[in-house]
Amino acid sequence: MKIAIGSDHAGYQLKHVIVEHLKSKGIVYDDYGPGNGLDAVSYVAYGMSVARAVQQGKADFGIVICGTGIGVSITVNKHRGIRGALCCNEYMARMARQHNDANVLAMGARVIGPALALAIVDAFLAEAFESGGRHQVRVNEIGAAEEQNVHC
Ligand code: RB5
Repeated sequence: MKIAIGSDHAGYQLKHVIVEHLKSKGIVYDDYGPGNGLDAVSYVAYGMSVARAVQQGKADFGIVICGTGIGVSITVNKHRGIRGALCCNEYMARMARQHNDANVLAMGARVIGPALALAIVDAFLAEAFESGGRHQVRVNEIGAAEEQNVHC
């Protein structure tokens, strides 16, 4: 499993905590930046880089972090094939995988603490999509909606 991870300045410290956690578990990752957390940067470019890495199959899942998680989740969900889920607890993370086949996890560093964030990451990465049933039908509908409405 390979992870693409990115943030803005507000998510930079939490991104570092998550990267260390991934390393400790032997999970391979690519860090799409920013490289330092001092300067205020837009979450859009970093969210786009992570979304494209997942879109292009360079990573199995993405993790994006900003202050609230809202900006990065809006950004990644502008990309065809990306199902980004903003999760504030482990239940949301589990459901995002089981029911929505989410492929990008978004979190808000100013909303949740690091311990909860790591628990959310672990829950998200541990769960599998319940394919073949009603959830598959709905995810397929999302794909069809995307084909009708997205032109990027
Ligand atoms: C940065 O101040 C903040 O606006 C950003 O991290 C994020 O919360 C936006 O959605």
